[in-house]
Amino acid sequence: MNVLITGSTGQLGKSLIDLKPPNITITASTRKELDLSNIDSCYKTILEMKGDWIINCGAYTAVDKAEIEIEKAKKINGFAIKGFTEGLNKTNGNILHISTDFVFNGEQNFPYFENQNRSPLNVYGISKSIGEEFIESNINNKKKATILRTSWVISPHSKNFVLTILKLHSEKKSINVVSDQIGVPTNAKDLAKVCWRIIELKEKKNLPLIMQWSDAGVASWYDIAVAIGEIGLEIGLLKKQAKVIPIKTSQYPTPAVRPKYSILDTTNTSRILGIEPIHWRANLKKILLEYKDLQNLL
Ligand SMILES: NC(=O)c1ccc[n+]([C@@H]2O[C@H](COP(=O)([O-])OP(=O)(O)OC[C@H]3O[C@@H](n4cnc5c(N)ncnc54)[C@H](OP(=O)(O)O)[C@@H]3O)[C@@H](O)[C@H]2O)c1
Repeated sequence: MNVLITGSTGQLGKSLIDLKPPNITITASTRKELDLSNIDSCYKTILEMKGDWIINCGAYTAVDKAEIEIEKAKKINGFAIKGFTEGLNKTNGNILHISTDFVFNGEQNFPYFENQNRSPLNVYGISKSIGEEFIESNINNKKKATILRTSWVISPHSKNFVLTILKLHSEKKSINVVSDQIGVPTNAKDLAKVCWRIIELKEKKNLPLIMQWSDAGVASWYDIAVAIGEIGLEIGLLKKQAKVIPIKTSQYPTPAVRPKYSILDTTNTSRILGIEPIHWRANLKKILLEYKDLQNLL
């Protein structure tokens, strides 16, 4: 089976390549080969590709910068999907489209279900909502599409919260971290396994149009920063940990407003796929160990 992966240099893209099942042939596209801000290229790529599947994990993920680069974010996260879906209607190919908890406003205090109305707070969330809407409204054969929402993706690669906090632990005496935004991290590797499982199962049976995946548990950014310090010290990645001071979002204003509570309910996806999510702290330890191994190789 042939699978085109967009965003192959990103956290999820790299994990998808690392964990490729033996029966799959990947075409890993980068921004240079396929610019997602060009809707015509997205359409033509689908027509030209000999693929059975596209996994669209390329995205404009700079949440704060998106408040300024509004049109760019909408093109990449939204209108690219218009191009893909129009192409797929011609070729009858399949799409697995990765989306986000940020399509919700975080005003409720229990996990979001797949079928709840989208209510994004910021440009990134709006742009990802546009992408979801194109999948829902444009794809003629809904059996050929899956939207997989996830949250707070982390990995030993690229720029992310874990690597930023790790550096701050080693350099600073104390760090201020927001404690009133609640979510759950998602290990990019486990997310990649979920993607491959969806593709495997979709060849055999129908799956829901919208699925959701994250690690298990609940955390604030403050909790994760504390855990990074503790685990980093335990495994010898850090020589010291900084004191982590909990602060309110109002003390750390950012251009993009973020949801206060963005837990996705993963029960349905877990049951259908037969995969249990692992607690975020256990997965965080795996990521930090992997990061340590990568540093030792340098
Ligand atoms: N990161 C999170 O916390 C998070 C949370 C929820 C959902 N998600 C979703 O999960 C998916 C994967 O996220 P990730 O963390 O792996 O993202 P990432 O590490 O930020 O990678 C994004 C990828 O998209 C590519 N890209 C950006 N603009 C592009 C363009 N104009 N044309 C082609 N490629 C472009 C990037 O290429 P370059 O290397 O050239 O920049 C990179 O390969 C995305 O759909 C994201 O919206 C992420």
